[in-house]
Amino acid sequence: MTPPTSRPVVGIALSGRIREDYLGAADLERLGRLAEVRVEEFEVPSGWGPVEADEDSRRRLAGFAAGCDLLVVCHGSPPVDEDVLAAAPRLRFVGELEGDRFAGRIDVEAAREHDVVAVDTTHSSSWPVAEWALALALLGLRQHGLFRRVMADEELRKDRDEVPPVRELSGRPVGMIGFGHIGWRLRELLRPFGGPVLVHDPFAPRELADALDVDFAPLERVMGCDVVVCLVPATPSTEGMIGADELERLQPGAVFVNVSRGAVVDTDALVRRAARGDAWFGLDVHDPEPVPVGAPLRHLPNVLLSPHIAGVTEEARPRFFTVMVDEIERFLTGREPRAQLTDAVMAGRGRPG
Ligand SMILES: NC(=O)c1ccc[n+]([C@@H]2O[C@H](COP(=O)([O-])OP(=O)(O)OC[C@H]3O[C@@H](n4cnc5c(N)ncnc54)[C@H](O)[C@@H]3O)[C@@H](O)[C@H]2O)c1
Repeated sequence: MTPPTSRPVVGIALSGRIREDYLGAADLERLGRLAEVRVEEFEVPSGWGPVEADEDSRRRLAGFAAGCDLLVVCHGSPPVDEDVLAAAPRLRFVGELEGDRFAGRIDVEAAREHDVVAVDTTHSSSWPVAEWALALALLGLRQHGLFRRVMADEELRKDRDEVPPVRELSGRPVGMIGFGHIGWRLRELLRPFGGPVLVHDPFAPRELADALDVDFAPLERVMGCDVVVCLVPATPSTEGMIGADELERLQPGAVFVNVSRGAVVDTDALVRRAARGDAWFGLDVHDPEPVPVGAPLRHLPNVLLSPHIAGVTEEARPRFFTVMVDEIERFLTGREPRAQLTDAVMAGRGRPG
């Protein structure tokens, strides 16, 4: 990992919309003090799956990359594959800014063969997602789904002693399924509540247990915590991993929160478990999305829904680039970037490193 010695060139390849929304003036100025900055717009469509770019855009990216020492890509850009890397002998750093996290816009294996550091700052929305996970846990323990309905509908008004007991988070065990960036931040937010934290994550480095004061445990044990927060990415191996058996382990009065991906939970099993009414559900992500009109989850009083907005805040948008400029600064001043696409990270995404 050798940073360039003369004034480096940083290329940024993205769509016009992302350029406008994400590249803050202060960060561009900061980057400009470190390097010559070149921006090239591409409009390759993308979604959650792999990015399929047309030949012309691919060739244009290869030509652009050839003049760069560092390259940052985002929505709109074609993938950084073997052809792009082979055309760019000066390239030492490639970074993915945001979105399509699992689409693999960077061929990490090829980057390694070309001695190019691959960095991913798509986790920059983990701050608001951790906050919303905590909020859903607190609202679930307070049975806010029910009270919201009671307050909104005169017919449902209840006396205080008629409502089911509500609970505090202080001292309660919290379980996390998946322990990556959101999990680490949520762990920090949970500290003042003082309860133990149990996590299930076969890929997370075990040293994190001591560093962040959590214990690793099998999924079935984590599902038995008073609050269970689902934070696993959607990969071929996580699809439907929370099914009827896992949901059966939720204790009466427990709160189940999902802020990662809807497809990780079996929706039919979730509806059946929620319909029993003895546990509470805070769901930001759904399968399918949006939640269909008339779907049972919309009407259960022990279910709070939000429309996949956990990571969508005013602050999160420019942060993707702020964090990328931090990473570039680290790299150019002889320090290792923090968000490198290591083998362990790639294994957690269900892809080879
Ligand atoms: N609701 C929103 O608005 C929103 C916003 C951002 C991210 N997300 C989603 O949240 C998820 C997590 O984000 P992150 O930043 O923490 O990601 P991350 O990549 O930092 O961490 C994910 C963790 O899940 C672990 N994991 C993978 N497979 C697993 C399995 N089978 N069992 C247990 N753990 C497993 C990985 O090892 C990794 O530690 C992603 O799916 C992301 O798409 C949602």
